[in-house]
Amino acid sequence: MTTTVPARAGSGQESIRFPSDFRWGVATAAYQIEGAVAEDGRTPSIWDTFSRVPGAVVNGDTGDQACDHYHRSDDDVALMADLGVGWYRFSVAWPRVRPDGGPANPAGLAFYDRLVDQLLARGIEPWLTLYHWDLPQALEDAGGWTQRDTAERFAEYAVTTHDALGDRVSVWSTHNEPWCAAFLGYSAGVHAPGRRDGADGLRAAHHLLLGHGLATTELRARGADTLGITLNLTVADPADPDDPADVDAARRVDALQNRVFLDPITRAEYPQDLLDDTEHLGWTDVVLDGDLETIAAPIDVLGVNYYHGDSVTARFGDGRTGSSPFVGSQVSTTIRDLPLTAMGWEVQPEGLTRLLLRLHEEHPDLPLVVTENGAAYDDVVGPDGTVDDPDRLAYIADHLRAVHAARAAGADVRGYFAWSLLDNFEWAEGYARRFGLVHVDYASQRRTPKASARWYAEVCRTGIVPGTEGLR
Ligand code: GCO
Repeated sequence: MTTTVPARAGSGQESIRFPSDFRWGVATAAYQIEGAVAEDGRTPSIWDTFSRVPGAVVNGDTGDQACDHYHRSDDDVALMADLGVGWYRFSVAWPRVRPDGGPANPAGLAFYDRLVDQLLARGIEPWLTLYHWDLPQALEDAGGWTQRDTAERFAEYAVTTHDALGDRVSVWSTHNEPWCAAFLGYSAGVHAPGRRDGADGLRAAHHLLLGHGLATTELRARGADTLGITLNLTVADPADPDDPADVDAARRVDALQNRVFLDPITRAEYPQDLLDDTEHLGWTDVVLDGDLETIAAPIDVLGVNYYHGDSVTARFGDGRTGSSPFVGSQVSTTIRDLPLTAMGWEVQPEGLTRLLLRLHEEHPDLPLVVTENGAAYDDVVGPDGTVDDPDRLAYIADHLRAVHAARAAGADVRGYFAWSLLDNFEWAEGYARRFGLVHVDYASQRRTPKASARWYAEVCRTGIVPGTEGLR
């Protein structure tokens, strides 16, 4: 079937080619796709609890069943093989591996043991994320990420998982988007565990970072091949670059979204302006001597999740101002006249080029991989059962061009993972938002590759992003 490439995907642009060693993948996360939340010893996570809070998730959706991946992993791996991806980024559910944060659970580990073998049997490399937000509820009951002990428990869980899978898994990423886990979960209260305390968000960020450092140190000592972390980063632009208040507001966002994690991990320090901006919150009581040196344990790769940039203003209520979960800073993000996805996120591929170049310039020896990029659009299943999704295809094509431009300008970007393989549980948006290359009918659990999936499969196979000539 010839997939016509929408005009925006390559309008007036030539085909571009990535090198043969560029890593092409797809990404998912345990709570978003697995289901089977009470099987084989798994105990509740904070998302099992939070998704049951009235009003927390659209339509009261939960991850109880999700995509039932726990029972369908072999078929889903076959789907990936059909797409021709070389890599699969998935997360391991802590509550399966060490239920309630306690002893190891062989039945929980067995699922990931089978998954890894299924992947390798089809020539797909695993990219393992240890934490994608599903903290065992029992550890939250003991204080969660605002407690130092949770960082210790995380390192213990990392070792258990590596002992079981380290002989076959080469890439070990500690956290996915600690910004969301810390600030959406403990400050804004819009993610699990739903707490709303500015200082707690920063304390949680510190202990997530400490857990990263402890786990990285332990796994390095055990011979882990490639160690990293995935951060969701932005390009924070002042709405009015001539307005000092907007310029300072953009600085605050950059500090609280980007540098709060980048600087400890790469420089063993918190940025001074962040410390100044948040001094009134008194959160640094949790930062002990030696912590930052632990956090800065060397990593081999930085995972970059990018969906959009932010236009930042100090003027609340100005224009189409979005809410700002940035604690300790009076800023808000505005929405420019850019196309929006179904999430209300701006489509801003040039921001990805700037972000990757910034990261390369600031950390020239740290390889980069785009570990998430993709878009939600309101897909329609046609009368013939096919799903044509030109906007998603164009979004991915435009962002691949942005990656290609960053590489051409010198950025060491070694791979791209499309978010996501499957439509899945989109956190507070539940199943109302679809990011998948593959459509999921949740009632029947039928998987239907969308047009973007077939297009992406061709890109993975050839390394070529077609321009206006489209696919023949
Ligand atoms: C994130 C998470 C994913 C999301 C995806 C779309 O970046 O928020 O890593 O779990 O589902 O990004 O929001």
